Amino acid sequence: MTTTIPLNNGVTLPSVGYGVFQTPPDETASAVTTALEAGYRMIDTAAAYGNESGVGEALRRADLTRDDVFLETKAWITDYGYDSTLHAFEKASAKLGVEQIDLFILHQPLNGDEETYALEAYRALETLYADGKVRAIGVSNFLPHHLDRLLDERDIVPAVNQIEVHPYFRNSELLTKHQELGIVSQAWSPLGGITFYPGWGDDARRSTLADPTIGEIALAHGVTAAQVMLRWHVQQGRQVIPKSVTPARIAQNLDVFGFTLSDAELAQIDALDTGVRGGPDPAANTRENRYREIPEA
Ligand code: A2P
Repeated sequence: MTTTIPLNNGVTLPSVGYGVFQTPPDETASAVTTALEAGYRMIDTAAAYGNESGVGEALRRADLTRDDVFLETKAWITDYGYDSTLHAFEKASAKLGVEQIDLFILHQPLNGDEETYALEAYRALETLYADGKVRAIGVSNFLPHHLDRLLDERDIVPAVNQIEVHPYFRNSELLTKHQELGIVSQAWSPLGGITFYPGWGDDARRSTLADPTIGEIALAHGVTAAQVMLRWHVQQGRQVIPKSVTPARIAQNLDVFGFTLSDAELAQIDALDTGVRGGPDPAANTRENRYREIPEA
């Protein structure tokens, strides 16, 4: 069971979705099948994850209609530009095996002279939206100044900005800005996985899953630390896309609607913010340092 969040164009987004960042392509179909069987009705993937085909395979296998599942994917920076991003949609819809994508977003901002590629890519999203090929459009990892430039130059306010948010990096300036602009905050790595993935973040940093404050709150409610973190997001109005390839955790992460955190508990979790992001700084993105080619099929 999950609640929904209204987007700024009236489309509704399930509050808890299933994310496949870091899910190996050959494990994706089975992981997404497990998630759909557990009751997830929103899947978040990306061209850059290399696993859109696995998501598509799970959707075809499932005993569900297309309307049952909210599907989100992202165009990668090597596909930015008006025509290239229109083509990126065709690549994504072929891999996913669907004609319409519920939410199509730009995966990363670009900076300096390269920012125009992202603005042209967003213009392509506006065309896809006008043509009914996507039900909503948005961005990811945009910083406040990227949003300002986008809103100055383009017509449609993004429905979402998918950003790093977890108890050790609350990203509060953006959360406030999103509220002002009517943009839904989608939290990636909502459990703080980015702080402990091998090769990402700071290896010396303690995992949010072992945080004593979160542990105490979990004990008080008879739930797990992961459930406390997800509940913290949902109660503060954010959409979450926890990643797991473990069936018991996949089920557990959707089960966050049977308890409520008090204002004091929410504030205790807010106070764990270190102000240090686990992922790369979007202000440093260039086409060269984030280069990744997206294959046709
Ligand atoms: P795994 O996929 O092996 O189950 P995030 O979504 O914040 O990036 O976090 C994902 C990480 O957290 C993965 O390493 C995942 O492991 C782990 N994880 C996901 N759900 C849970 C849970 N309920 N309890 C403990 N660890 C979890």
